[in-house]
Amino acid sequence: MTVQAVSATPVLDGKLYRMALGSFPTGVAIVTAKPPGGPAVGLTVNSFASVSLDPPLVLWSLRRDAPSREPIVEAGNFVVNILSVDQGDLARQFSQAASDKFHGVGTFPNVWNVPCIENCIARFECSIAATHDGGDHIIFLGAVQHFEYVESSRPLVFCQGRFISPEPDNGPVG
Ligand SMILES: Cc1cc2nc3c(=O)[nH]c(=O)nc-3n(C[C@H](O)[C@H](O)[C@H](O)COP(=O)(O)O)c2cc1C
Repeated sequence: MTVQAVSATPVLDGKLYRMALGSFPTGVAIVTAKPPGGPAVGLTVNSFASVSLDPPLVLWSLRRDAPSREPIVEAGNFVVNILSVDQGDLARQFSQAASDKFHGVGTFPNVWNVPCIENCIARFECSIAATHDGGDHIIFLGAVQHFEYVESSRPLVFCQGRFISPEPDNGPVG
């Protein structure tokens, strides 16, 4: 096993820092939004987290210079589509810049006319409660207005730079 030296200085080794962050497994979601009169936007994120249960608040962060920033802010709401284990191709599709990321993707509109991705394990429909400065990212705080959950599905997991499947048969450890 190789043990890397860890620097305590503020000057980070960018690659090593990303690898360290990647050792924290996350789920994978596609955030979708649709501004009035404009085309829908969507992007893959793994920065999603629950913040508060009462009231129900969630967060995710967006690269400050992302093209989807203005449309999402203008929309005033967004949908967090939590991907299931067989939706890795969608995660890749929505993580690359494209003129129509939704091409060939099964969606249905919610009450805000935001495209929701079909066959996800869960969905959180949120109004934007606040945005916060997060360095080179913007933190979106969402107030959950509606959610759906398919208990029988399993989530897609992102860990150490790869999409992986959770092992359902592994028992608890520790
Ligand atoms: C697994 C994974 C997780 C990602 N998580 C985020 C994220 O949380 N925030 C973000 O801004 N970009 C994230 N990205 C990168 C965006 O999906 C990518 O930059 C996307 O093209 C942005 O969409 P846009 O260019 O239409 O704004 C992630 C990419 C992958 C593959």
